[in-house]
Amino acid sequence: MERLLLRNIDRENSNSIETYLSNGGYLSLRKALREMSPGDVIEEVKRSGLRGRGGAGFPTGMKWEFAAADIKEPKFFVCNADEGEPCTFKDRLIIEKDPHALIEGMLIGAYATGCRYGYIYLRGEYPVGRKILERAIGEAYDKGFLGENILGTEFSFDLYIHSGAGAYICGEETALINSLEGRRGEPRIKPPFPVNAGYLWKPTVVNNVETLANIPLIIERGGDWYASIGSPDCPGPKLYPVSGKVKRPGVYELPMGTPLSEIIYEHAGGIVGDRKLKAVFPGGASSSVLTSEEIDVPMDFPSLAKAGTMLGSGAVMVLDETDCIVRASLRLIKFFRHESCGKCTPCREGTDWLVRIVSRIEEGLGSEDDLDTILDISSVMENSFCGLGMAAHNPVVSSVRKFKDEFLKHIKLGRCPFRRS
Ligand code: NAI
Ligand code: SF4
Repeated sequence: MERLLLRNIDRENSNSIETYLSNGGYLSLRKALREMSPGDVIEEVKRSGLRGRGGAGFPTGMKWEFAAADIKEPKFFVCNADEGEPCTFKDRLIIEKDPHALIEGMLIGAYATGCRYGYIYLRGEYPVGRKILERAIGEAYDKGFLGENILGTEFSFDLYIHSGAGAYICGEETALINSLEGRRGEPRIKPPFPVNAGYLWKPTVVNNVETLANIPLIIERGGDWYASIGSPDCPGPKLYPVSGKVKRPGVYELPMGTPLSEIIYEHAGGIVGDRKLKAVFPGGASSSVLTSEEIDVPMDFPSLAKAGTMLGSGAVMVLDETDCIVRASLRLIKFFRHESCGKCTPCREGTDWLVRIVSRIEEGLGSEDDLDTILDISSVMENSFCGLGMAAHNPVVSSVRKFKDEFLKHIKLGRCPFRRS
């Protein structure tokens, strides 16, 4: 497939505005401002079928339509660049290698929805990205793409960067907004959704980096063209970060809906040492695990939901036959215990109990009753306040269900069967 989202990354000085402009950069913004009304832009994005690439897959055009319909002023446009999911490193590529695609996507989105101010909420652990974005924003101001009366029109937009402080929960959009306001990074109740009551309780569009990088392409080539790529229900190009026991880990741009088996064996080169694949977390740290018999699934939102897991950020984490599934799920739940904001009991206490129980099983000190307790705790965690707690137990519970024998082996042997000493 022709590279679309990553079309610029191999060019020399790919992140400079000169490189971007000499390859058709900002022509989509020009087209949107000069030839299209805000409503036309929204219609084009709706026609494209673009769904948010942050993890939840909400239709982008619909989100923009809701924000445009709200008449409260001022409105804000926020790019969620707080990429904190373990093994997710796709947005970083765009931020560092093609920042103007992100800025152009934001400008077109702000024009369509009537937003006057924008923020890029950047992961605190991306200091290189911050420097690159600062330079790119400066270049865009110098060329008249940001600021007052952009390209001689009535559209004005100012853009700022806000660095996070290392909390994963601030990638949840309402916690992000709290953090942007200088408050503690804790989620707010939804509804109201940010499109109606976000930053400073004003209409706020929050879109992920990869989502926004699609926008110049859609405006340039049209929604119908975009909708013809990948899965009919969920079209477009998709960035899949692949890590773990594959020969060629990295970020792969492929049509949405590419089979997971093809991503692992063709693009990522198969399993290290030609060992057997054991398990895959197909959509980031909170996705349910798939076994080696389940990897012929198309990597898109509906297909993975049907398979009992989720696409999430699209981060594929591969385990081979020498990996211990108990230890892998323990690492993931430890991450969520550390990152739980502590606001609600099911998540705060549930993640802690899961760590304690899975730890003792991994050490060979567990009992068979522990497996039922894990399932009980997870059913309570489903009632957590936000997505973090609702999904944190997925890797553990799905591992217990699909690899029960391996958990039992730890219990019966009184040790991890994969440990050499
Ligand atoms: P969500 O389903 O609550 O919302 C998705 C988006 O649609 C939000 O922007 C929300 O405001 C909007 N929305 C939903 N219903 C709406 C309505 N009726 N009106 C207006 N707007 C509406 O999901 P959430 O909690 O925002 O995201 C969960 C996902 O985030 C998970 O699938 C997970 O994979 C992903 N995630 C990604 C990370 C990363 O680093 N990329 C980190 C952590 C989680
Ligand atoms: Fe905080 Fe977890 Fe509750 Fe979300 S689910 S509000 S992260 S404690």
